[in-house]
Amino acid sequence: MQRALCPGSYDPVTAGHVDIIRRAATIYDEVVVAVLHNPAKQGTFAVEERLAFIEEETSDLPGVRAEAFANQLLVDVCTQVGATVILKGLRGGTDFAYEMPMALMNRHLTGIETVFLPGDPTLEHVSSSLVKEVCRLGGDVTGMVSDRVRDELIARLPRP
Ligand code: PNS
Repeated sequence: MQRALCPGSYDPVTAGHVDIIRRAATIYDEVVVAVLHNPAKQGTFAVEERLAFIEEETSDLPGVRAEAFANQLLVDVCTQVGATVILKGLRGGTDFAYEMPMALMNRHLTGIETVFLPGDPTLEHVSSSLVKEVCRLGGDVTGMVSDRVRDELIARLPRP
């Protein structure tokens, strides 16, 4: 039984995240989508909302569940949930440069390996932060996030 952990802020989950989670679910028996957050920092969405969005988009995948963790080392989260591998998507070289030291640090700490999946090239430009910026300034983010997330973003992001 192999359980993988897909960590992130997921504020909010994007189509790129969902693609990686779905592909992870075809490789591993179980996938824990870990929403890591700092309670001192206010995100755009509350942790419960982030979890609900992820659950809505992965409800057809029995081996996938979402869980939140506050102020914890990723390696401790892995131990806590019994994950034997960290799985992340890479959109390109910038992601690789950002992820590499974290993967090495996590392996240094407990020996856990990180597996990278190449992101869908059609979603290479999609990130939670860019989606929020585009939406805030009136751009259409349909297809980059679920319709529900898009509508929630439109409703709550302050417009210029
Ligand atoms: O979606 P994000 O913001 O790119 O996710 C980054 C995240 C939460 C996966 C990363 O910051 C993380 O692993 N945080 C846990 C803290 C930790 O373990 N840090 C030290 C090891 S690199």
